[in-house]
Amino acid sequence: MQLKFDWLIVLENLRRGIMVTDVTLEGPAGPRIIYVNRAWLKMTGYDRGELAGKTPRILQGKHTDRAVVSGLRQKLLNREQFHGQTWNYRKNGEPFLMNWYCYAIYGDRPKPIYYVAEQEDVTEIESLRMKQRLMINPHDADAQAFFAVLKDWKPRKQVG
Ligand SMILES: Cc1cc2nc3c(=O)[nH]c(=O)nc-3n(C[C@H](O)[C@H](O)[C@H](O)COP(=O)(O)O)c2cc1C
Repeated sequence: MQLKFDWLIVLENLRRGIMVTDVTLEGPAGPRIIYVNRAWLKMTGYDRGELAGKTPRILQGKHTDRAVVSGLRQKLLNREQFHGQTWNYRKNGEPFLMNWYCYAIYGDRPKPIYYVAEQEDVTEIESLRMKQRLMINPHDADAQAFFAVLKDWKPRKQVG
């Protein structure tokens, strides 16, 4: 057994996005982001420095499903684990389908000390699935709605 274990290097190099927040679920300021790993920064386009005092709501936008995110809140309050998918947005406004697990981390006491999320962008795999659905039924409403969200986005022009 190795004595010195560098857990930060491991977190920083995981393939999935990892986000850790405090446990304040009440009010617009919480939960506050404490840590995100490199895969998370790459997925969202944010820099570490701009996340101070921010909440995961920075990822939400027009097509984010309120029922999914309220469901997360309820699960955490009930001390259950959450798994769900909804549209989130990168820093540049590009929508992507976020798939994530979220749960509490407990220390020695019965109260949670952190909330943790394992997050991944599943837009590509979902696009393939939705394309197949359209081949079977070109009028598939869910598949049409999926591609409408992606088409809705136009990259902003870079200045300079
Ligand atoms: C650890 C953690 C990770 C979260 N990650 C996301 C996320 O990736 N996308 C998202 O839309 N909401 C995410 N949320 C949910 C929002 O932070 C917020 O809790 C949710 O919108 C419910 O609160 P509200 O009803 O006050 O908005 C996360 C919450 C926690 C605690």
